[in-house]
Amino acid sequence: MLIFNKQTDLKAYLASFLASNTSIGFVPTMGALHEGHLSLLRKSLQENKMVVMSIFVNPTQFNNTEDLEKYPRTLDRDIEKVISVSNNIVIYAPSVEDIYTENIIAQSFHFDGLEHQMEGKHRPGHFNGVGTIVKRLFEIVQPSKAYFGEKDFQQLQIIKKLVQKYKIPLKIVGCPIHREKNGLAMSSRNERLSASEREESALIFKTLKNAKKMFGTKTANEVSNFVKKTFENHPQFSLEYFQIADETTLKPCIRKSKNKKYRAFIAVFVNNIRLIDTISLN
Ligand code: PAF
Repeated sequence: MLIFNKQTDLKAYLASFLASNTSIGFVPTMGALHEGHLSLLRKSLQENKMVVMSIFVNPTQFNNTEDLEKYPRTLDRDIEKVISVSNNIVIYAPSVEDIYTENIIAQSFHFDGLEHQMEGKHRPGHFNGVGTIVKRLFEIVQPSKAYFGEKDFQQLQIIKKLVQKYKIPLKIVGCPIHREKNGLAMSSRNERLSASEREESALIFKTLKNAKKMFGTKTANEVSNFVKKTFENHPQFSLEYFQIADETTLKPCIRKSKNKKYRAFIAVFVNNIRLIDTISLN
C-alpha cells in the first residue's frame, strides 16, 4: 500500500507505468469510504493492472460552508478499508495546497446544459468545482479508466461530457448504486445520520420505487405530485427537488416519449443533512 500526499511524488511514481502503457484504473473519492466506493475499487482491480484512489474533500464543489466543514474526514479508517480490499492500491490524499496552490477557485465550464438541472440549480457552482477537480486529477493520474457511482448520475453524465469536450483519452465507467439493507443509498453523508434517521431515510428509496411503478401508467406531473405529498406527510424530511428527466439530456420530462430513457432524481434534507438518490424508470 502506497500513500502519496504530493502530486509531484505520485507523478514520479506513475511515470514508468505510463511509459510502459500499464492500464491504470482510477477511483476519485472524497473519503468517508463505504461499500459503494469499495465496489468501485474491486471493479477497477478486475479491469486494470494498477489502481489509484484519490481521497480529497474538494472545497470548490461545496456551495455551503457548513456542509464543507461537516463533511466526514476519516482518512485512517479509509486506509484500513482500502487495505481490506487489496494491498496493491495506490492512494493519493493531497492537501488543498497541493491541488490548488494559493488559488482555491474553480474553472468555469459549459456542459451543454447538463449543469443547469437539479444539483446544478440547487447547488450553484457545484459542477464547476467537480469539473475542476476531476480534470486536474485526470491530468495528474492519467488513468485508462475512471470509475464513478451512479448515485451521482448527473455528475456521471457531466464527467462523460468533460472527457468528450476536452478529448481526455480515458473511459468513464458508471457503476451501480450500493444500498443499505433498508434501501437507503450508501453515501458518505449517511455517517452524519443518527440510527433513527438512517432507518427513517428508507422512505426515500421506497418512494422512488413507488414512483417507478406509477410512471408506468401516470404522467410525470402526477408522479411528482405523489412524491411531494408523500414527503409533506413526513415533516422530518424536507424535499428539495424531485424530477423525472431524460437520462441523456437531464431535461425534465413534460410528455413521455416511447423512445426515451427516463430516470427519477431526488434530493431530500433530513435534519439538515442532504441526501440524493435516483432510479431508472424504463
Ligand atoms: O463524487 C465524489 O465523491 C466527488 O464529487 C468527486 C468525483 C470525487 C470529485 O470531488
